[in-house]
Amino acid sequence: MAVLSAYSVTLEVPQLDVGIAFYSDAGFVIEEQEERAIVRCPDVSHESIVLLGGADRKRLHHIALRADPMEFDAVRARVCQFGGTVVDAPSGHDESGLWVRDPHGMLVHLVDAQPDAPLAAVEPFAINEPGRIVRTRRSAMLPRSATPTVKPLRLGHILVFSPDVPKSVEFFTGALHMGLADHAQDIIAFCCARKDSDHHVVAFAKSPGVGFHHASFQVTDPDAVGRGGALLAERAARGQWGFGRHTIGSNFFHYIQDPWGSWFEYYSDMDHIDDYNLWTPTNYEMEDSLANWGPALPHDFVHNYEIEPTPFSCLT
Ligand SMILES: [Fe+2]
Repeated sequence: MAVLSAYSVTLEVPQLDVGIAFYSDAGFVIEEQEERAIVRCPDVSHESIVLLGGADRKRLHHIALRADPMEFDAVRARVCQFGGTVVDAPSGHDESGLWVRDPHGMLVHLVDAQPDAPLAAVEPFAINEPGRIVRTRRSAMLPRSATPTVKPLRLGHILVFSPDVPKSVEFFTGALHMGLADHAQDIIAFCCARKDSDHHVVAFAKSPGVGFHHASFQVTDPDAVGRGGALLAERAARGQWGFGRHTIGSNFFHYIQDPWGSWFEYYSDMDHIDDYNLWTPTNYEMEDSLANWGPALPHDFVHNYEIEPTPFSCLT
């Protein structure tokens, strides 16, 4: 079991201040360094997003995955066999761990890091259901002014574009020893860690080239997904998709478009795979590839702006 969990995403962006404003509005703690912004969840000690300023347009620099260092030699030996390459750390980046390129040239950093502290248990998300009344003589909802702001708890998964989804899956399962959780034909596929994993940690959507689609952050419950998504959408004033629920992974979602045309997701209630050996992947029909229910899909939800930059006034 090489890959254990998602760790971070690093993006090159044209304007750092625009990205800092977006992720601040989303509830993150931001530390500005020279020409870069370190974006972390309030209760997590390491970065979840890194923005590198000064680029001509947004592009994925690399994804980082927490991995078992005892497996690094085995991964190194398998990378070529599955069409990838082992590379040196890019200049100015952490030289520890293991850096590889997948068969499409996407840079992946396998990081030797302690696991995040376990999330604190919260009160169960209790709803009154037919035959099961759990809340009487009190309101579930506080007035808006008294409702706590939504806090991203941890990075759950990263979705990237791939020109050949099955080939990406072959690399991430073969060389990095992840598991294929589910997929929809050759259009979208979801990979998990093989022990105690969210349904997906890295996912791939078909596109003519590589690129970043979204990073997804867990929040406490479905209400927080809707509330956080609605507020961020209002502040960002760009595209949004949500509130809704995925079929694949089962999670409630709300996506908000970031300043560069890619996406940010709040989620809750993701399927959990405790032991991949006891999981059977399903090949879903295309109608199940995006959502079980939710609003109409924005026209550019699966548009890869990294290969087809579009002069779109709200994208900076
Ligand atoms: Fe997602």
